[in-house]
Amino acid sequence: MKNPEATYIRRTPTSKKLWQKAQQHIPGGITANVKHYNPYPIFMKKAKGSKLYDVDDNEYIDYCLCYGPLILGHGHPTVTKAIKKQLDQKGTTTYGTPNEIETKMAKKIKQHVPCAKMIRFTNSGLEATLHAIRTARAHTKKPKIAKFEGHYHGAYDQVTISITPPLSQAGPNQAPIPVSNSAGLPRHILENTVVLPFNDLPNTEKLIKKHKNQLAAIIVEPVARGFIAPDIDFLKGLRTLTEENQIVLIFDEIMTGFRLGLGGAQKHFGVTPDMVALGKIIGGGLPAGAFAGKPEIMKVTSPLGSKHPYDHLFHSGTFSGCPIVLAAGLATIEELEKPRTYNHINWIAEEVKKCMNDVFDDYNIAAQAIGLGSMFQCLFTSQKRIRNYRDTAKADAQRRVNFDLELINNGVYVRPHKPFHTSLVHTKADLDKTFEAIKEATKTVAK
Ligand SMILES: Cc1ncc(COP(=O)(O)O)c(C=O)c1O
Repeated sequence: MKNPEATYIRRTPTSKKLWQKAQQHIPGGITANVKHYNPYPIFMKKAKGSKLYDVDDNEYIDYCLCYGPLILGHGHPTVTKAIKKQLDQKGTTTYGTPNEIETKMAKKIKQHVPCAKMIRFTNSGLEATLHAIRTARAHTKKPKIAKFEGHYHGAYDQVTISITPPLSQAGPNQAPIPVSNSAGLPRHILENTVVLPFNDLPNTEKLIKKHKNQLAAIIVEPVARGFIAPDIDFLKGLRTLTEENQIVLIFDEIMTGFRLGLGGAQKHFGVTPDMVALGKIIGGGLPAGAFAGKPEIMKVTSPLGSKHPYDHLFHSGTFSGCPIVLAAGLATIEELEKPRTYNHINWIAEEVKKCMNDVFDDYNIAAQAIGLGSMFQCLFTSQKRIRNYRDTAKADAQRRVNFDLELINNGVYVRPHKPFHTSLVHTKADLDKTFEAIKEATKTVAK
């Protein structure tokens, strides 16, 4: 039998050397834990369009796209031009003062995202959810929040809970136990975060009712981890329950925003939350985030009219609203507004998913590619309907990693075990190569 890891090591010796060198200065040799996988991550040296090139001169069709933001691919000419124009004509990277592009971008987001009536910018998705949650607390004056098991909202204390809990520690399906997802989390955090079961309205309702007087906000990824669709009745029910109990409903649309269409998941499903956290695509490939919502909630961030600093919400950030970032984001959204862009991006995803599912069937392998629009995940499991984290946790993770390493060996890049994303610049020729890689990878893991 072919050994995917041995082939990977043979093809990427320079990456291995650079990774070992990096470890002398950087813990684990990586600057974000998501970048690590076994045996070691590949070091890229350049990229263009749908392609990545590594330090050993291997070429890859990129389906990671930096975990989603690069919906126009690498170095899209419109985005590059917008960044250069901002630098050349304005003479600086950032002002540290208000600038007009902030208002332009705020208006653009408002035009598309239903709940986004007032907007603040941040430098990352993590900051966006953090400030959305703080805003909800300031608005409701209640102490706790609720999140769903298996959902990710950034790597800070309040939400680094029950993202990937071992099932043996996660408690009953109907009332998950909050489990720390990181070393160093203070105990009180676990006491202030209620964990809810996704796509399970009756039990979510019970937990909301139990904690309603203490819950400031419920934060949810409307499409869990970018690929588990919500039952529409579940989303609608969540909307009704939060309204009835004076709880701020926050959609974390850092994945789905401007990917599941210009209006994100809230437009797609026709359910409007009170607040939204955005990131990834709105920075056009540069670090960005935003939190937005109803004026009566967002006004707590405004210093106007407050007598003391502690009367309003402390939201700051040296680089928030950085004009280069917003210029790149604006150019990206304007490109996405052109006709038929999403048709193409989604078509590429549909074709890759279909190929995977057909080939898995041909080889009689219990596996499936699932997802909406241009994001999908591949799970080696016989379970037919994937509805929440617990369903995904039962899949065969090692087989998936072998499949991914073999895709990489055949010129298709995905961060092993993570979802796939497609872009406007993936082509029919990319698809043909991808189909071949899927067949090879499936053949290997079938044995
Ligand atoms: C749904 C979701 N929320 C929040 C974040 C955190 O965003 P960032 O990595 O920009 O801090 C991510 C990142 O992948 C995400 O997918």
